[in-house]
Amino acid sequence: MNQEHKDKLTAYRELIEKELESALAGEFRVEQAMRYSTLGGGKRIRGILTLEFCRVFGGKIESAVPVAAALEMVQAFSLVHDDLPCMDDDDERRGKPSCHKQFDEATALLAGGALFANALNSVAATAFVPDSIKAKHTVAIISTLSSAVMEMIRGQQLDIQFEASEKKLTEDDIINMYNRKTGALISAACVCGAICAGASDKNLHKARGYGVALGLAFQLADDLLDFAKEKPGKKTYATEFGEKRTKEKAWEYTESAVKIAGSISDGAFLKELVIMLCERKA
Ligand code: IPE
Ligand code: IPE
Ligand code: MG
Ligand code: MG
Ligand code: MG
Repeated sequence: MNQEHKDKLTAYRELIEKELESALAGEFRVEQAMRYSTLGGGKRIRGILTLEFCRVFGGKIESAVPVAAALEMVQAFSLVHDDLPCMDDDDERRGKPSCHKQFDEATALLAGGALFANALNSVAATAFVPDSIKAKHTVAIISTLSSAVMEMIRGQQLDIQFEASEKKLTEDDIINMYNRKTGALISAACVCGAICAGASDKNLHKARGYGVALGLAFQLADDLLDFAKEKPGKKTYATEFGEKRTKEKAWEYTESAVKIAGSISDGAFLKELVIMLCERKA
């Protein structure tokens, strides 16, 4: 990634971080857990996509910042629940103890739900900011985001069912699960940014297509990173079809995202971003 694009990543991350810090207040234990799980960690890919899609389609970046923060709150919610003992049972997240380890299971459960509520509220609050997102667009963003959460939850359910089942999974089974558990939120991040800019249907379609392709490439790259440490019984594309095929598939989706980015004027950053994510080492 060139220096200009690296600087853009840093600038976007700072905007998101500041917004999250001001959106997450309160001293209840659950509120401390929400801050712990959301602030100071994470690549902020979803929030960054929201800001960049708003920009490429001619919107004001500032107007999309609360929406980007909302995407990152939803992301934190999904991870807090994903790590619970009844789900993936992971003790670490973002290099720190996971939420239920640092706090307790009940608090982690509550923090996850509360982060989702807070995310929607962060979007709804833009309706009271003058010269910000149009009210009809605010409603469209809330609808896009909550539908994506429903898809993510369906995907997480499939993930657990696959782990418990004896059935030999097909490629379609796994791609369908990934589209839901990971692709839906990533593609919603892109679409929500485009909505902030009041994008045309054609451009909303591009945002969705890019997000779906990036989402799959991203989850396949995550499979490769997790491959060596995957729990017995966990079924991923990599465990079922091997590392080589997973790499090839990740590049296939990366190339389709790159192609869509090529059809967006000033889409160079989006092109580099998907390549960087597919090649990432952490
Ligand atoms: C983790 O997402 C969950 C997956 C979909 C693989 P990220 O890798 O984007 O996690 P953070 O937000 O950067 O920690
Ligand atoms: C994450 O899938 C998808 C979510 C909806 C959270 P994983 O379970 O593979 O994510 P990591 O590897 O724990 O980050
Ligand atoms: Mg999981
Ligand atoms: Mg997990
Ligand atoms: Mg994983």
